[in-house]
Order: sequence, then C-alpha cells, then structure tokens
Amino acid sequence: MILVTGGAGFIGANFVLDWLAQSDEPVLNLDKLTYAGNLENLAALQGDPRHLFVQGDIGDAALLAQLLAQHQPRAVLNFAAESHVDRSIHAPEDFIQTNVVGTLRLLQSVRAYWQGLEAPARAAFRFLHVSTDEVYGSLAPTEAAFSETHRVEPNSPYSASKAASDHLVRAWHHTYGLPVLTTNCSNNYGPLHFPEKLIPLLIVNALAGKPLPVYGDGLQVRDWLYVKDHCSAIRRVLAAGRVGEIYNVGGWNEKPNIEIVHTVCALLDELRPKRDGSRYQSQISHVQDRPGHDRRYAIDARKIERELGWKPAETFESGIRKTVQWYLANPDWVAHVQSGAYRDWVQTQYASSHALICNDAP
Ligand code: NAD
Ligand code: TYD
Repeated sequence: MILVTGGAGFIGANFVLDWLAQSDEPVLNLDKLTYAGNLENLAALQGDPRHLFVQGDIGDAALLAQLLAQHQPRAVLNFAAESHVDRSIHAPEDFIQTNVVGTLRLLQSVRAYWQGLEAPARAAFRFLHVSTDEVYGSLAPTEAAFSETHRVEPNSPYSASKAASDHLVRAWHHTYGLPVLTTNCSNNYGPLHFPEKLIPLLIVNALAGKPLPVYGDGLQVRDWLYVKDHCSAIRRVLAAGRVGEIYNVGGWNEKPNIEIVHTVCALLDELRPKRDGSRYQSQISHVQDRPGHDRRYAIDARKIERELGWKPAETFESGIRKTVQWYLANPDWVAHVQSGAYRDWVQTQYASSHALICNDAP
C-alpha cells in the first residue's frame, strides 16, 4: 500500500480518488482534518476497504511509527501542509509547525522505518514530497519560467515554509540516503477546491451575488494546472522519477488574475445566467493588494516531459469549464464547506464507518 498524508484536502483527495479509480493498491490516508481537511471529499470511498483513513498529525512520531510498522507502505506521499498564502500572512506559526516541523518529524519517522526494511523493499521505497512553484519567488515579466535549478527565493511565510520543507527533503536524501522525489507544481484548480482560493471563491461568490475580490490591479500572473493533471504527474514521478530529483509540474497556462475572473464570469453567464439579465462581471471589485504579493509565477515543465513523458491532458479552457460545471453540480458540498457543516457531516456519516475511520489506530 501507499501512505498519503493530507489526503482529505483539495489535491490529496483528488489524488486518492484518482489512484483508487486506476489501481487496487490500498491507500492509508493520514490527515489531521484542519479546516481544510474534509472527509466529504472522500464520500465516494465510503465502505471501500482499499481506503483506510486515520485522523492524525504528520508531526506525531509515535503515530507514524505505529502506522508504518503496521501497514508497511512501499511509498509515502506528503501532501499535508498549511497551504493558503493569505492565512500564512496573518498566522505564520501554523505554517512553520506543519510545513517545517511536521515535515521534519515525518522524515525522521519514515527514515527509521525505511532503514529497517529488507534490502529489496528498501531499494524500492520512495518518499514523494509535494511542493509548490512559489518557493522560487517572483518572476519579472520577460524572465524565463522556473526550471528546477532556478534560485529558491520564497517571499511569503507559506512559500518560505514550503522551501524549508523542500530543503529538509533534499538533505534527508543527501545525508541519510532516503530515496526522495520532490515535485514543485504551479497553481492548481478543479473539483474539491476550498473556496478561500481564487477560482472557487469567484464561483461561489458570483453565485451568491457577492463581490468578486481582485487584489490590486489583478495583473499578477499565475500558471494554472487542472488538479487531475497534477495527480497524474505525481503518479508518473512516483513510478519512474529519478531518486533525489526535483520535477517541476505545470500546464503552460500563464494567465493574469483578471483574465481568470473574466473567464469564470463568462462561463457562469453561459451556464447559469443571472435572472435579472446582468452579467457576473458587474460583481468584480478591486480590493487592497496582498502584502508582498508575488507578481508572476511560470513553470518550465520540460524536464518532466522529457524524462518521464508526462504532459497535461486538459487545456485551461477544458479544465476551467469542468471546474465551473463541478461547482454548479455540487451546491451541497459548497454549502457544507461554507457553513462549516462538513465537520458535522464527518460525525454523522462516518462515526461508525470502519472503512474510513481507522478505529484500530491509536
Ligand atoms: P489543502 O489546504 O487543501 O489540504 C491540506 C490537507 O493537509 C488538509 O486535508 C489538512 O487537513 C491536512 N493537514 C494540514 N496539516 C496537517 C498535519 N499537520 N498533519 C496531517 N495533515 C495535515 O492543500 P492542497 O491545495 O490540497 O495542497 C496539498 C499540497 O500541495 C500542499 O503541500 C501544497 O503546498 C501543495 N501544492 C498546492 C498547490 C495548489 O495550488 N493548491 C500547488 C502546488 C503545490
Ligand atoms: P490563491 O488562489 O490564493 O493562490 P496563490 O496565492 O497560492 O497563488 O491566489 C491566486 C491569485 O489570485 C493570487 O495572485 C492572489 C489572487 N487573489 C485575488 O486577487 N483575490 C482573492 O480573493 C484571492 C483569494 C486571490
């Protein structure tokens, strides 16, 4: 089996769902269930014996030791993190605790387990660390996209904490020989995205008749990748990536934020026109910019394509249409997240479900 951390969050849940749609290899899913962790994301796996969920912290060494010894995973994939830049500006400590200290403790637990494996299992084992393009800092308008050898120059508490975790992963390979892989991906979008991030926030605010907040001039550029393409890249790196290497993952979809806002508005005009005949773009509201806001991210994804033959399946146009359609088709998911009811939902839906809540975990 594989051990996935943070598998109740946006990307982790998409990864677990896609993994089990394509393979019968079981997943042990360790997630702390912070505000961003939502077991409702995994509702389709209710009663599925291939999915074992454990609520816990990647920094809990005793829990990790017990889970690793009991389940003997062939790989650990670390998605768990505090992930929202704006939250990191207001409350950086949680980011250091999970992204830095948590990753350190996870690495130590995994190293102890890995060192105790028999030679063939030891050689085949992988620790895959899921990271972000934000560790590279901000690009000037005409600068070349981030390659894997770009300087690491994080600017926000979030990106600094992720860069620190990347360095730890690298050091655990160089110092202890732990067989690690690191992926640095651009901005994801798609189903199950918590509506504090730009694209889901735009969709839910637009439908609720609320303002669509654009930070500053809205000309900041992000490089967008449909989440399921990120998941396929991670599967590919796990299967064939060279140990110790970094793979940048991106969709070659650089767009200024304001263009994203107009695209989402136009799709909603088409798919859910407003009753009063007005256009969603009338809700756009420019608000104060984020402090230290990075101006441009762009990923050079040639290495993963050249070495591993990976390419995204979706264009931005196809992916954003699917995303808007998903939010329109899942108003209950949105309502539960917005009201906080997804936490109650966990209790009512899963309290007695052994397949999802691993009762035999400590
Ligand atoms: P998310 O915030 O939606 O989910 C994070 C998950 O981790 C949640 O389920 C949360 O409960 C869990 N978690 C948090 N702290 C934990 C801890 N101490 N122990 C165990 N679980 C914990 O984040 P996401 O967008 O799904 O991102 C997943 C990973 O991908 C992160 O490492 C992030 O840095 C990286 N990443 C995200 C993006 C993006 O656009 N969202 C892009 C590139 C890389
Ligand atoms: P976000 O989804 O928070 O991702 P990140 O900061 O990790 O790139 O934001 C994407 C871009 O959208 C970023 O440039 C900030 C901007 N943004 C807004 O303009 N308005 C908003 O309400 C939010 C949440 C983000």
